[in-house]
Amino acid sequence: MSATPLMSATPFSTRIVCIGAGYVGGPTMAVIALKCPDICIHVYDLSVPRINAWNSASLPIYEPGLDEVIQQVRGRNLFFTTDDSVITQADIIFISVNTPTKMYGVGKGRAADLKYIESCSRRIGELVSHGHKIVVEKSTVPVRCSVAVRKILSANSKGTATFSILSNPEFLAEGTAVSDLMRPDRVLIGGDQDAKGLDSIRRLASIYERWVPADRIVTTNLWSSELTKLVANAMLAQRISSINSISAVCEATGADVDEVARGVGADTRIGPKFLKASVGFGGSCFQKDVLNLVYLCESLQLTEVAEYWHWVVRMNDYQRRRFCEKIIKTMFDTASGKTIAVFGFAFKKDTGDTRESSAIEVVASLLEEGANVHIHDPKVSFDQVKTDLEMRIDDPRVRQLIYTNVTMSPTAEEAANGAHAIAILTEWDLYKTLNYEAIYSTMSKPAFFFDGRSMVDPKVLRAIGFDTYCIGKATQHPAQFFYETS
Ligand code: UGA
Repeated sequence: MSATPLMSATPFSTRIVCIGAGYVGGPTMAVIALKCPDICIHVYDLSVPRINAWNSASLPIYEPGLDEVIQQVRGRNLFFTTDDSVITQADIIFISVNTPTKMYGVGKGRAADLKYIESCSRRIGELVSHGHKIVVEKSTVPVRCSVAVRKILSANSKGTATFSILSNPEFLAEGTAVSDLMRPDRVLIGGDQDAKGLDSIRRLASIYERWVPADRIVTTNLWSSELTKLVANAMLAQRISSINSISAVCEATGADVDEVARGVGADTRIGPKFLKASVGFGGSCFQKDVLNLVYLCESLQLTEVAEYWHWVVRMNDYQRRRFCEKIIKTMFDTASGKTIAVFGFAFKKDTGDTRESSAIEVVASLLEEGANVHIHDPKVSFDQVKTDLEMRIDDPRVRQLIYTNVTMSPTAEEAANGAHAIAILTEWDLYKTLNYEAIYSTMSKPAFFFDGRSMVDPKVLRAIGFDTYCIGKATQHPAQFFYETS
């Protein structure tokens, strides 16, 4: 499908181009287009299949409510294109490309890989020869990234063009992207504090003000905005690692992690959100952004600060390992030749995204043990599962098992049929209400249940006959404390 009628021929008040048609760029631009019919928006991506999908009936990402928004705005004032010449006519250019953790060279495993930010800054510089453009960092970037963007833009711009750089990080979460964008807690805009910078901030703020109350639009200097995004994710991840660390204490003491979280979260200074114990957080952001913060602190020689934040990620690794070890140990120290039904592969419910999902780690560990794995997930394809496992598993012996020992089941019931155990790894609502009594009757005995999301009441499962382990709940055979023995 072609990009649009030529933008200059349209009566639009402002022209926006967003580079990057991913989880952030697509939904964000769809909501801006919906709320501002007088603004013409082009979303550009160099991937032809991705743009074709955005232009088709089956969008490249699953996000509740997104289809409806896209249907209203696509072809009206929102266009998806692989033609980057649209950049030349834009007033505002959003950079919304991937900044994954760097997997090579300096900063490997920690620093953000800025190669896509760099290449699109270079391209903007090459294409734009005159006028003033506002360039907005939407992607999560390391602090002071805007310095590099500015340098690349001016080094590549051949004409009289001038640029203002703004930081406008995204706080939407996958699975709730549309409602997060419609009703954000805050919109953060950072920019230079000189006249030109403040004017650019004002201009971007005036777009959000069409539907976001003015007191929720927070403006700061550039570095504060870039750092705030990293710190917000680091703090959220820290809450999950904190409650997950307590889940281990609960299991050993008979306390119940959900009850502890409720009691702790009732303190208004702490609040109830992000205190749900789990098999570990996943997603493309938390681990990447915490490691990015660690790298920043290391670069600043703030060793203790780096260590402090690094433990948030280490605790997450520990929680995943602990869950896998529990499965193996409980099933008489071996899962070899046994079948485990894995319920959920996405990193959280209401998304088909599997990036950094704890399920990848758990399934890889089960394969290392020689188990068979039957996976069910309402939104993840078998191809995606295989790709994730291929990327994760190096050992050729274990890699081979991806093709012989892993199957994808169309229903949870089918995944569990004949299996020795069920492991819930994603909190899809449907797993709360399955008929576990009927499922139990189709499984090999003794039938085990490992609830990595504390979704089902362990008392109910035990009454059915399952040997049950639930994260953060008293185990079926609790250890005795030294002070309990006489
Ligand atoms: C996260 C942040 O929540 C967004 O504000 C941010 O904009 C986004 O990263 C980003 O930087 O782009 P997201 O990764 O989509 O959003 O998903 P979350 O809802 O934050 O969940 C992350 C992981 O934590 C999931 O695996 C989830 O299951 C887990 N989680 C979440 C828990 O284990 N316990 C909780 O209480 C909450």
